[in-house]
Amino acid sequence: MSDQAEKLRRLRLIEGTAPSDSLPPFGPRPSARSIAVVSGKGGVGKSALVANLALALARRGKKVLLVDGDLSLANVDLLFGLVPKFNLGDVVFGQRTIEEILLTTPDGVRLLPAASGVEELADLDEFRRERLVRELSRLEADLDLLLIDTGSGIGSQTLHWARAADRTLVVTTPEPTAFADAYAMIKVLAGRKLRELPALLVNMVNSARDGRETARRIRVVSERFLGFRPELLGWVPFDDAFPRAVRQQEPLLRMFPHSPSALAISKIAEHLVFEPVPRDPIAVEPEGYFLKVANG
Ligand SMILES: Nc1ncnc2c1ncn2[C@@H]1O[C@H](COP(=O)(O)OP(=O)(O)OP(=O)(O)O)[C@@H](O)[C@H]1O
Ligand SMILES: [Mg+2]
Repeated sequence: MSDQAEKLRRLRLIEGTAPSDSLPPFGPRPSARSIAVVSGKGGVGKSALVANLALALARRGKKVLLVDGDLSLANVDLLFGLVPKFNLGDVVFGQRTIEEILLTTPDGVRLLPAASGVEELADLDEFRRERLVRELSRLEADLDLLLIDTGSGIGSQTLHWARAADRTLVVTTPEPTAFADAYAMIKVLAGRKLRELPALLVNMVNSARDGRETARRIRVVSERFLGFRPELLGWVPFDDAFPRAVRQQEPLLRMFPHSPSALAISKIAEHLVFEPVPRDPIAVEPEGYFLKVANG
């Protein structure tokens, strides 16, 4: 029996023996698709892109949870002008419930401040850990999509988020240092048994050609040394509207919906909505994203 299956079996056993009022039920099987946004180099626009992608998807009627898994100062909640008082760490230590830490933007994007708490999750005793994972899974059961913003580089926290996700989006810019680091990130991810191949998103391009050329270089090296070509999901032009919106703590799509970068992000969101899910139905795991995160 695989590790994963064994853990699941244990969970079911516990479910069968625990007093019914001590653990919240698993509820309907979580079916939300999870996408982790990562980068090799910092400052390439992950948080800005993921916040606006979440907004674009919410406007298309998708139930989206944006998970802020980044400890850096430029948190996604700030991009929405929201400042969370608590985070997942407070839930882990039993001071708050998930509902109390969850924020909702006026566009309907739900936001989970999770930058702290994930590593601690692994250290919790089994009962408390399970209770928390069940609460998170309950949340997940009511979602279409989870978008996870991560810190830059191949830190353990980022890899933790990425490994549990269905899909990873590697953000880069056309700068040589950024795309060299993007390739390094893809290489690390490729060694981690991902569920799907990572996809590329090129930000701050000067032209469509710039975007395609950056992606081509990464794809060529990747094909040669790793044996696969990451898909190019799209590119977003360099656009002054972006830092202007960030300074106002307003998402770009709300403040400058007709700017070139907002239009590019909407197009990428459209692609994500209609993306066929390349899953072998037999291999579908009957567990949600947060259970995979907790299981490491
Ligand atoms: N397409 C763009 N055009 C112009 N500026 C952009 C664009 N995308 C992002 N930016 C700007 O780049 C800066 C860095 O963006 P952001 O904080 O989202 O990067 P990040 O990858 O999340 O950084 P970190 O690695 O520190 O988490 C922000 O000031 C943002 O406004
Ligand atoms: Mg960021």
